[in-house]
Amino acid sequence: MNVGIDLISFQTSQYFLDLATLAQVRGVEAEKYRAGLGQERMAVPPPDEDIVTLAASAAKPIMEKINSNDIELLLFGTESGVDQSKAAALFVHGLLNLSKRCRAVEIKEACYAATAGLQLALAWVQQHPDKKALVLGADIARYDLGSPGEPTQGCGAIALLISANPRLLVLDPETGFHAENVMDFWRPNYRTEALVDGKYSTLVYLSTLVDSWRQYRVATGRKLGDLARSCFHLPFTRLAEKAYVRLCREEKIPEPPPDEIQRKIGPSLLYNRQTGNTYAASLYESVAALLDNDPEDLSGQRISLFSYGSGCMAEFFSGVVQPGYREHLFAERHRRMLAERTELTYRQYEDVFRYHVPADGGDHVFAPYRTGLYRLQGIKQHVRLYAATT
Ligand code: CAA
Repeated sequence: MNVGIDLISFQTSQYFLDLATLAQVRGVEAEKYRAGLGQERMAVPPPDEDIVTLAASAAKPIMEKINSNDIELLLFGTESGVDQSKAAALFVHGLLNLSKRCRAVEIKEACYAATAGLQLALAWVQQHPDKKALVLGADIARYDLGSPGEPTQGCGAIALLISANPRLLVLDPETGFHAENVMDFWRPNYRTEALVDGKYSTLVYLSTLVDSWRQYRVATGRKLGDLARSCFHLPFTRLAEKAYVRLCREEKIPEPPPDEIQRKIGPSLLYNRQTGNTYAASLYESVAALLDNDPEDLSGQRISLFSYGSGCMAEFFSGVVQPGYREHLFAERHRRMLAERTELTYRQYEDVFRYHVPADGGDHVFAPYRTGLYRLQGIKQHVRLYAATT
């Protein structure tokens, strides 16, 4: 039976910092961020936005198109959890008014977590083809001010509806995957910013890509040329170029000219360049960008997906784009959301960065900023209070 992604919806915050502004303040050439990292803007979440509000806002357009009682599995991948015990999935479950007959849990393994959710959901839908699963991935990427990772910050959420006979992407059963205990990027419980060995992390990303690809190649007998497009986890979009060239080298294919690389991966990079790293959401943000923006009709074409979560877990897999997929995208909403964001000054960005949801155990009411369809209203008796904005 065919299973895969039936609908895909993305959400980011309503505020951004232009990386040319950051470059000027940091005394760095703007081209380093634009060309060297492949990033233009970073999404900045206001104080009343978090992974719950981002993920619920991403999922809401999907919910408006389906019977919510069909969802019996809700998996939420994140490394920006809002509670040490309770799953963020349950806050979203409440905001979306999902059926009580639903398993709802949070999954963690850095940026790989949503892929873990996706693979579990695919197996579950195989067993329950009349049911659907909702897989969420949302994160707020934070590094220390002035650190090399700072220009790669961002935030966003993805919502994937997983079903039998999906309308967008039938996922292939064969995958290559790789687990290894490495310290390339992590965030101890006492820190709000990640610790990262940046250069090392890119080396591990590329070496686990090669191992996952080799397994995939053996399992499927496919060659790189069988993949019409390639989507990657995007900590910064330039890494996707390096990843694609690395796969070519592994296959002993001469490095393709820039326009060919652009054809293979360019459209998938469009949203991440504008949001920065969205960790668990990043790979699927790139899938949404590809389907929304590729000028060619990809119906019947096989695309690859590479998921990487520091620590580390990696997986290489693929899927076939379904005929008529363009009728089931949220492309207009995605483009409008990115176009209508408010630009921050450097000072505003730093003020927001330094703001933390109070951890004093008291009651707090938060001022309303521009958010998606939901916002964090406040905290009362240690309980986070969320509300719809419309
Ligand atoms: N014009 C054009 N390009 C320029 C330039 C200029 N004026 N100045 C520099 N560059 C280029 C450099 O040549 C370099 O390109 P190459 O890699 O092709 O050589 C690029 O800009 C980056 O510059 P640096 O090598 O000086 O690197 P940096 O000190 O700025 O750090 C980084 C880069 C290590 C990726 C850093 O941004 C970082 O630590 N990021 C966070 C960690 C991360 O994203 N890791 C990715 C893999 S881990 C993962 O995927 C999980 C996850 O999501 C975190």
